[in-house]
Amino acid sequence: MRMPASFRASRVLLFSTFFLLVVADASGQASQPAPAKNAQSASAPPAAAASAEDSKYVGADTCKTCHEEIYNAWQKTPHWKTTLNKEASHQGCEGCHGPGAEHVAGGGDTSKIFNPAKHSAKEVDAKCLTCHAGTHPNFDRSPHARAKVSCISCHSVHQSKEEDNLLKVSQPTLCFQCHSDTKPAFNMPFHHKVNEGLITCSDCHDVHGTFGANNLKSTADQNAICTKCHTETRGPFVYEHVAVKAEGCVGCHTPHGSQNPRLLSMPAIAPLCNQCHSGVANNTVHGMGAGSSETITCTNCHTYIHGSNMNAAFLR
Ligand code: HEC
Ligand code: HEC
Ligand code: HEC
Ligand code: HEC
Ligand code: HEC
Ligand code: HEC
Ligand code: HEC
Ligand code: HEC
Ligand code: HEC
Ligand code: HEC
Repeated sequence: MRMPASFRASRVLLFSTFFLLVVADASGQASQPAPAKNAQSASAPPAAAASAEDSKYVGADTCKTCHEEIYNAWQKTPHWKTTLNKEASHQGCEGCHGPGAEHVAGGGDTSKIFNPAKHSAKEVDAKCLTCHAGTHPNFDRSPHARAKVSCISCHSVHQSKEEDNLLKVSQPTLCFQCHSDTKPAFNMPFHHKVNEGLITCSDCHDVHGTFGANNLKSTADQNAICTKCHTETRGPFVYEHVAVKAEGCVGCHTPHGSQNPRLLSMPAIAPLCNQCHSGVANNTVHGMGAGSSETITCTNCHTYIHGSNMNAAFLR
């Protein structure tokens, strides 16, 4: 059983309403029900109607009598926290499987219980999103949802062996199962060390959907995905290189991997620059052939290529 002390800060924020009011015992299990009103109970139907509805629910302890193994495993996952919810419909096993009274009365009648594995991606997603829409509001219009890749394509509520996030298998293996076309890039001579575990696909992507293309994390500044790690390129600079702001980092770098050092999109720097600065090498400032020789190239002099506070030509 995970202890409340190990909850990550962001989660604590979400569930602090409960923790303020619930005393957790040493095992981490709630020792009393939450007396609090929460957002959901505010819109709950009147007491009489609620109890008629509630009678369709039997509670996780009843499920345990026949599904003990599943119960014991489930209890060790973060989903145990749903036992802190007030409404029967949002608690325990029935939070995902729906009301279980008829299933139990029928001695385990499989036609009387919601088994996500037998339902469409859309229905599964809707079920999970009854609780997770707050953290993943963009899922329905994500490329994954539209391609019928559902929550349980990536997550396994009961079988996950992963420490975090109930993933079926860890990244990047999970992603490569379907995105085998991206795999070669991470084996190129120069690549972000995703296979080596230094960074993950989800450092740059939010697979649950974003406002941007390519499932890239949404940030106010298109480059912030990269500059959160590469802070030296962030700026703002007194002298900005227009290309960095206008084209973004991917104007010159291929993010997954490249045959070229520095993940550059072209094998040599001069031609990369000359896409936009054509003819520069032949002008008087540069003399003949500057930048095109084997040993000296544009960035030997224009060192601060991402922007500078000292020099308008990004010179050293
Ligand atoms: C009286 C024993 C009993 C109880 C109590 C019970 N089940 Fe079952 N359940 C079964 C049996 C038997 C099956 C069918 C065999 C199997 O798949 O294990 C089953 C199957 C299931 C399935 C799979 C259905 C399918 O489509 O194959 C789910 C999901 C399920 N139970 C959930 C629950 C939940 C949630 C509860 C508590 C609300 C619960 N069960 C309580 C006996 C029980
Ligand atoms: C967070 C959602 C969620 C909760 C909570 C949950 N389940 Fe499930 N359950 C699923 C999903 C999804 C499946 C479909 C198979 C899968 O993806 O693992 C499933 C499948 C099952 C099955 C079918 C057999 C199998 O393993 O595939 C049984 C039985 C079952 N659950 C019982 C329970 C019991 C008992 C509890 C409470 C102790 C519970 N579930 C809690 C989501 C949930
Ligand atoms: C394409 C694979 C994939 C799909 C589809 C997917 N997830 Fe995830 N999920 C992940 C990965 C990878 C992580 C861990 C990295 C991260 O947080 O983005 C994660 C993390 C999470 C987390 C914990 C972290 C957080 O952001 O709160 C929750 C909760 C979650 N997913 C719920 C869902 C739900 C609900 C759905 C369906 C509506 C869903 N996921 C669909 C891959 C997926
Ligand atoms: C009844 C509400 C409820 C439903 C329905 C629900 N969840 Fe959750 N889920 C929770 C709570 C509560 C947590 C714990 C959040 C925390 O740790 O603060 C959680 C946590 C998670 C996490 C993060 C696990 C981690 O290691 O941090 C994932 C992934 C997740 N749920 C996936 C799913 C999927 C997939 C479904 C649908 C099959 C689903 N949930 C349905 C309430 C729910
Ligand atoms: C079950 C298969 C499956 C898994 C697992 C999966 N994806 Fe996807 N993904 C798809 C499909 C299908 C699409 C939509 C079609 C497409 O664009 O390729 C998609 C779309 C995407 C896109 C958007 C591509 C675009 O052109 O806009 C990105 C980025 C992405 N996935 C990243 C990931 C990452 C990162 C993971 C692992 C955490 C992952 N996917 C896991 C199947 C999957
Ligand atoms: C360093 C950040 C970063 C990491 C790490 C990363 N991506 Fe991407 N990914 C991007 C960017 C940026 C794009 C958009 C490319 C463009 O605009 O040229 C992209 C595009 C994609 C696309 C759609 C276009 C294509 O190339 O097929 C998919 C699918 C994808 N990434 C999957 C993945 C997977 C799977 C992983 C992990 C194995 C991963 N990405 C890791 C930044 C990243
Ligand atoms: C989660 C942190 C992280 C994010 C996000 C990230 N990177 Fe990186 N990047 C790294 C690490 C770590 C290295 C490897 C540094 C090393 O090997 O010395 C690296 C290497 C690089 C290199 C090669 C540096 C060299 O000296 O050869 C470039 C270029 C680069 N990243 C560009 C980008 C771009 C563009 C993005 C956004 C699409 C991005 N990075 C997003 C962490 C990150
Ligand atoms: C106009 C083209 C261009 C753009 C746009 C660009 N870079 Fe670069 N970047 C380069 C070149 C050229 C080098 C190689 C410098 C060298 O080898 O001397 C480089 C090198 C790097 C390096 C290696 C360390 C270093 O500073 O030499 C990192 C990391 C990096 N870039 C990240 C980024 C990030 C993050 C962005 C977006 C904010 C970005 N780059 C935008 C051209 C560009
Ligand atoms: C995508 C187009 C693009 C690429 C690629 C590009 N630049 Fe630029 N660069 C610009 C633009 C636009 C300006 C602003 C020009 C202006 O203000 O007249 C600029 C400005 C500059 C300046 C300052 C010019 C001045 O007038 O003071 C230098 C120096 C420069 N770039 C060098 C480089 C080098 C070296 C490379 C290759 C590593 C490069 N650029 C790649 C578009 C680009
Ligand atoms: C030997 C050092 C050196 C090399 C190599 C070099 N530059 Fe320059 N560059 C300069 C200097 C010095 C200036 C003048 C700065 C000033 O006006 O203050 C300059 C100015 C510029 C300017 C702005 C003025 C103009 O001529 O348009 C651009 C753009 C530029 N360089 C691009 C490049 C590109 C692209 C390359 C590689 C093909 C390159 N430089 C190679 C030293 C160099």
